[in-house]
Amino acid sequence: AWSAAFQNEPFTDFNQPEHREAFLKALAAVKGQLGHRYPVVIGGKEVYTEQELVSRNPGHVREVVGRMSQAGTDLAEQAMQQAQKSFATWKRTTATERAALLLKAASLLRQRKHEFSAWMVVEAGKNWAEADADTAEAIDFMEYYAREAVRLSETSLHQPLPRVPGEENRLQYIPLGVGIIIPPWNFPLAICAGMTTAAVVTGNTVLLKPASNTSVIAYQFFKLMKEAGFPDGVINFVPGSGAVIGDYLTAHPQTRFISFTGSKEVGLRINKLAAEQAEGQIWIKRVVAEMGGKDGIVVDETADLEAAAKAIVVSAFGYQGQKCSAGSRAIIVESVYDQVLARVTELTNLLEVGSPEDNAPVGPVIDEKSRDKILEYIGIGREEGRLVTGGEQVGEAGYYIRPAIFTDVPVKGRIMQEEIFGPVLAVVSARDWEEAIEIYNDTEFGLTGSFFSTDENRISAALERMHCGNLYVNRKCTGALVGGQPFGGFNMSGTDSKAGGHDYLLLFTQAKVTSRKL
Ligand code: NAD
Ligand code: ALA
Repeated sequence: AWSAAFQNEPFTDFNQPEHREAFLKALAAVKGQLGHRYPVVIGGKEVYTEQELVSRNPGHVREVVGRMSQAGTDLAEQAMQQAQKSFATWKRTTATERAALLLKAASLLRQRKHEFSAWMVVEAGKNWAEADADTAEAIDFMEYYAREAVRLSETSLHQPLPRVPGEENRLQYIPLGVGIIIPPWNFPLAICAGMTTAAVVTGNTVLLKPASNTSVIAYQFFKLMKEAGFPDGVINFVPGSGAVIGDYLTAHPQTRFISFTGSKEVGLRINKLAAEQAEGQIWIKRVVAEMGGKDGIVVDETADLEAAAKAIVVSAFGYQGQKCSAGSRAIIVESVYDQVLARVTELTNLLEVGSPEDNAPVGPVIDEKSRDKILEYIGIGREEGRLVTGGEQVGEAGYYIRPAIFTDVPVKGRIMQEEIFGPVLAVVSARDWEEAIEIYNDTEFGLTGSFFSTDENRISAALERMHCGNLYVNRKCTGALVGGQPFGGFNMSGTDSKAGGHDYLLLFTQAKVTSRKL
C-alpha cells in the first residue's frame, strides 16, 4: 500500500446531511462513554493509580470526560525499563513491517474518524471542522511516515555513495533508542500521533507522556495503535505531571531523545535539562522542540482586501486562537488600514460564540488557567492600546471569551510580542509594505506568516524577507498540510524539525556507515 502515492485525507463536508448525521451519532456515542477511568499502560500492563487527573469538557465544565491515572517517578522508571527491553526486539523489525502496522492504524482511524473527532469536541473544545481537520492530519501523518520509513530504508541500502576502489560502502539509518514523546493539547490527536508514529516507525520505542488536558484523546490513540498490532512495550502510555515525570524522564540517563511540542518556556527547560550528562549516560540526548509563535499577516494596498480580512479573522480566531500558527498580529499598510480594520471587526462581530457540540465557530478556551491568562492579556491590551471589540467572558457553562481586537498597540508592546494563545488579535498600521515586513519580523518567534499583495515584486521580496518556517502568500497562516507544507518554525519557535516533511524521520535515526573490503 505504501507504493501508492501519498494523498491528504479529505475534510468532511458537513453541509451534507449524511455527514452531519454520522457526526451527531459519533458525538452521542462518545457522550455515552464519559467519566471512565483510564490507566497508565506499561508493556501492555494496565495500572490504575490512586492519584487521578480529572479531565473536563472545557465547554461544559461540570462534565467529566475521564479520570486519568497519573504516573509518578516509580511508574515512569518502570516504563523506561520496559521500553529499553522492547527496544532490543523492536529495533530488529524491518521498516516495511513497521510501516505496515502504521498503515493499518491509519486505515482503522479513517474508519472511525468521527468518533475520534467527537472526543476532541468534548475534551478539547474543537468545533466539528477543527476536530475533523485534526483527525485528517493524524491520518496524514501515519500515511506519510509509513511511506517515509520505507523510502529511508530503501534509499539508504542503495544510497549512491561515491565508489572507493576495493571496498563496498553502505549507509543505513538505524533507530536511536528510547524516546520521550511530549505533545501539546492543542492538536491532541494529530500532533500526538505524528510525534509518536515518527519515532516508532523508525524503530525506536517510546514513553508517551500525553498533555494533561487531552489525555483521554491520547489514550484513544494509544488503544488504536495497539489494535493495529503494535506490540506491547513499543509505545508505553505514561500520563502524569509534566513537572514531575517530565523532568525525571528528561534527565534520565537512558533517555536517548526527547520529542517535544509545546510552549517556549517548557521547551527551553527540556533543552537545558537534557544537555546535562546524567550519571551513566553515554550519549548526547537529541532534543526536537517545537514551540510557540507570534504569527502575523501583512496586507499591502494592492491586496484583495476582502480576502485579506477573511484570512485575518480565520487565522486569529480559528480554534479560539489556540494554534501555534494563529495569526495573532495583523500589520496593514496605512492607506488601507481603516478599511481592513473595519471589515475585520465586522466579520469578527458576526462570529457566534457557543458550544463546540453545536458546531459554533468560536468555542471555549481549554481551561481555567488559560482563560485567566488570556483575560490578563486582555487587561494588558487595554493599557497598551485600544480595544475595538470583544474580550468579554460569555456564559457560565465553560471558558468562553468573545474574540478581542486591539489597535494602537506599540510594536514592542506585550500583546504584539508575547504568545497569548487565545482569541486576541492586535492590528497595527505601517507606513508602507516594507515597514510592515519589518514589524512582522520584530519578534523572537518565527513560525508562520502571510503576505497579502498582488504586486509580484513585493511578493518576491516578502518571500525572501519575512523570516519564518511557514510563509504563505494571499491565504491564511494556519492549516499546513502534511506532505505539501512541512511544518516547523525558526528562532524561539523551535528546532524547525519540519513535521510532515522528508527531513522529519531523520531526526529519529542515526546513520551507520559500513565499509567492507572486497
Ligand atoms: P506546554 O509547554 O504547557 O505543555 C506541553 C507538554 O509539555 C505537555 O504535555 C506538558 O504536560 C508537558 N510538560 C510540562 N512541563 C514539563 C516539563 N517540565 N518537562 C517535560 N514536559 C513538560 O504547552 P501546551 O499548553 O500543551 O501547548 C501550547 C503550546 O504549544 C503553545 O506555545 C503553542 O504555540 C505550542 N505549539 C507549538 C507547535 C509547533 O509545531 N511549533 C504546535 C502546537 C503547539
Ligand atoms: N499544522 C498546524 C497549522 O498549520 C499547526 O495550523
